[in-house]
Amino acid sequence: MKELTVKYQQFDSWKSLSDGDQSLVEAAYEISKNAYAPYSKFLVGAAVLLENGEVILGSNQENIAFPSGLCAERTALFYAGANFPHLKVMKIAIVAVGDLVPLDKILSPCGGCRQVMLETEVRQKAPYEVILVSQNETTIVFSAASDLLPFAF
Ligand code: THU
Repeated sequence: MKELTVKYQQFDSWKSLSDGDQSLVEAAYEISKNAYAPYSKFLVGAAVLLENGEVILGSNQENIAFPSGLCAERTALFYAGANFPHLKVMKIAIVAVGDLVPLDKILSPCGGCRQVMLETEVRQKAPYEVILVSQNETTIVFSAASDLLPFAF
């Protein structure tokens, strides 16, 4: 039998993070207000820090033809890839807001987003931090996107 272990840091609140990381989380909260989520009422914000200090923001954008919508993480990462293909991603902070978001549950990116997050890492040949914040502020930090997708395609 083999065993897989994933290491991550956990904080009671994102307010225990470094000043820079707190700013990234605040930016994610701010952009979550732009989510277009009339169907799920699940507002997600993602803030991507690039190596030049620029922060790229994304929120989930839904559509009545359900598969046509896109998650916040991919909105931000695809914008970064489309506009700054040569700049490495250093961090991504992801938050979720809404009455339907369980208070004590960490929002963890969907499988499709994990695959995109991982490929960003593979493409830039460098890991980046993933910061996940739940509605009760509990925060977990992974040091690499690959930690969220073992046995990736
Ligand atoms: N969603 C995200 O934006 N990111 C995630 O990590 C999970 C889910 C969005 C997709 C959809 O608009 C809504 O949240 C409910 O699934």
